[in-house]
Amino acid sequence: LRTEALQEIQSATEMELIKDLKVKYLGKKGELTAVLRGMGSLSAEERPVIGGLANEVRAALETAFAQKSESLETAELEAKLQSETIDVTLPGASLEPGSIHPLHSVIEQIEDIFIGMGFEIAEGPEVELDHYNFEMLNLPKDHPARDMQDSFYITPEILLRTHTSSVQGRTLLAKEGEVPVRIIMPGKVYRRDDDDATHSHQFTQIEGLVVDRGVSMGELKGVLLQLIQKMFGPDTEVRLRPSYFPFTEPSVEVDIYHPEKGWLEILGAGMVHPRVLEKAGYDSERYTGFAFGLGVERVAMLKYDIDDIRHLYNNDLRFLRQFKSV
Ligand code: PHE
Repeated sequence: LRTEALQEIQSATEMELIKDLKVKYLGKKGELTAVLRGMGSLSAEERPVIGGLANEVRAALETAFAQKSESLETAELEAKLQSETIDVTLPGASLEPGSIHPLHSVIEQIEDIFIGMGFEIAEGPEVELDHYNFEMLNLPKDHPARDMQDSFYITPEILLRTHTSSVQGRTLLAKEGEVPVRIIMPGKVYRRDDDDATHSHQFTQIEGLVVDRGVSMGELKGVLLQLIQKMFGPDTEVRLRPSYFPFTEPSVEVDIYHPEKGWLEILGAGMVHPRVLEKAGYDSERYTGFAFGLGVERVAMLKYDIDDIRHLYNNDLRFLRQFKSV
């Protein structure tokens, strides 16, 4: 029994087999256990002899099991280490560094310029209530100027905001009549437009709003001039044209001069309409303000000489790779 068992233990190549063998010899129904159980039927002289022998065999088997398990475990560990070896001399996989998207870059540049002039940044929801997108901006339900911006309505009261001016009312209400208000509000806006080289049903605006005592049209012009000269160079020519928005009075449109393309409109602006201030809880006798809304795509296209607005949305790597240094 001993010789046979020891041989089997020695030739076992897996831990599983060792476990089976333990059961086979030392388990409750094991062969050695059977011998020990059979002791009762032996004579008084035979018992100590066989008992001693059986114990010796058990000790020998236990030692053999222990040794074999240990050597198998070591072998398994070594095999595992071997299979997990990493060749540190192999060349690494090369990852192409990404770049900041030109639209995002323009937003950040403009934010930096305004932060430098003491502005804060605020944001509002893209899915907006008619109330903030129109009503608070002095555009009641039947106002003809609502047609200036063809909207995506979700329900009669909820729409995708058509301009970032919707954030004006929200931030003014949050300020609870406090001044000064100096904020810019970047974000996506949506209009029912057919997409082509210069139109997109989704685009990006940066809204600006200043409310305080004695805010003037002169300050509006100064702030916009700062912005434009920092973005396009100190010699850039700027033109303010009279215009109309229900939420500003007077209103202007601002063009910059491009040597090849001529005058190009980049933003709408004006003095905040007293009714807009009143609706948001500001005393229009004490305070005045100005606001502007700038088209980010326009600025990006002019600055980087991009001829089709759709380049800004398609994420074609051949396009995006050109902005690595921006
Ligand atoms: N909201 C206007 C637009 O999208 C722009 C604007 C903003 C005009 C603020 C005046 C004041 O066309």
